Amino acid sequence: MTTAPLIDPFHRPITYLRVSVTDRCDFRCSYCMAEHMQFLPKKELLTLEELDRLCSAFVRLGLRKLRVTGGEPLVRRGILTFFQAMSRHLESGALEELTLTTNGSQLGRFAADLAALGVRRVNVSLDTLDAGKFHAITRWGHLAPVLEGIAAAKAAGLKVKINTVALKGFNEDELFRLVDWCGAEGHDLTFIEVMPMGEMGEEIRLDQYWPLTDLRARLAERFTLTDLSESSGGPARYVRLRESGQKIGFITPLTHNFCESCNRVRVTCTGELFMCLGQEDRADLRAALRGAPDDAALIAAIRAAIARKPKGHDFDYTRAHVTGQMSRHMSHTGG
Ligand code: 5AD
Ligand code: SF4
Repeated sequence: MTTAPLIDPFHRPITYLRVSVTDRCDFRCSYCMAEHMQFLPKKELLTLEELDRLCSAFVRLGLRKLRVTGGEPLVRRGILTFFQAMSRHLESGALEELTLTTNGSQLGRFAADLAALGVRRVNVSLDTLDAGKFHAITRWGHLAPVLEGIAAAKAAGLKVKINTVALKGFNEDELFRLVDWCGAEGHDLTFIEVMPMGEMGEEIRLDQYWPLTDLRARLAERFTLTDLSESSGGPARYVRLRESGQKIGFITPLTHNFCESCNRVRVTCTGELFMCLGQEDRADLRAALRGAPDDAALIAAIRAAIARKPKGHDFDYTRAHVTGQMSRHMSHTGG
């Protein structure tokens, strides 16, 4: 069986996989989930062993970076077993980076173990430093344990990146507070434009869309911004704030076309491989996993899917109505 690296039809090497390990979450962020979510029956989910097989197959196909997402990955029962399984690819040198995106609520419990298994960085979603607003936007979440989790991550030696969804009328007034807090704590900070995912509440989306061009202009009122040319292969663009030395990221999926440098694919917690966040085409890797105990069919299914990775996405907020709007929730595909 050939293990030639994965290259898509547009000559992009696919070296980055984001894998969702659960659709569940202990929060109900209003831009991400409905308050009453119907979660998947357990048998639909990939088992931890299946997740190991799937990700290990990608590693054999040249994967360098694996990001574990959800839902909230740290609410998946036994998740450390999976991190432990993946850490062997770090030890062998096959995998360069093992990381996760989390809401931080469970980091107090898990940070030290994750660090011991070779995780070096963690992305924590945090939209506000105000406890009342935090509870309002997450519906079920509380700020204090998240801040404790972030502190635990820092204490365990993990590099923390804060991801903040920019929401008009919600955290506009906290721009400098967030920047200053991250600067003081030594955390990187990236702002994300809200994306049209799922059928979110009417209160969100178009009317909460805060373009990062505007956010950036406000930053420039207080700081001198220098564009950084470095690219992670992803959608983030970075600036340096001269006064504080901080690096600030902007993820603008709707106003900046980053598809030409895309090196990533996503797998949902049910084993669907999405070749593009903004397209519906997918491949059923669970069938390949469950159909045979060896990985030949799995690897063939991955290759066949990558061979039809599209050139780019169809999101467009600039029209009168949202086109390219996706019918699935972010918690399904993974952030
Ligand atoms: N738009 C932008 N970001 C979103 N996230 C979840 N839903 C959306 C959305 N509609 C983000 C979370 C977190 C990551 C998992 O995805 O805030 O940073
Ligand atoms: Fe959970 Fe993250 Fe979605 Fe919020 S944005 S509900 S923390 S998965």
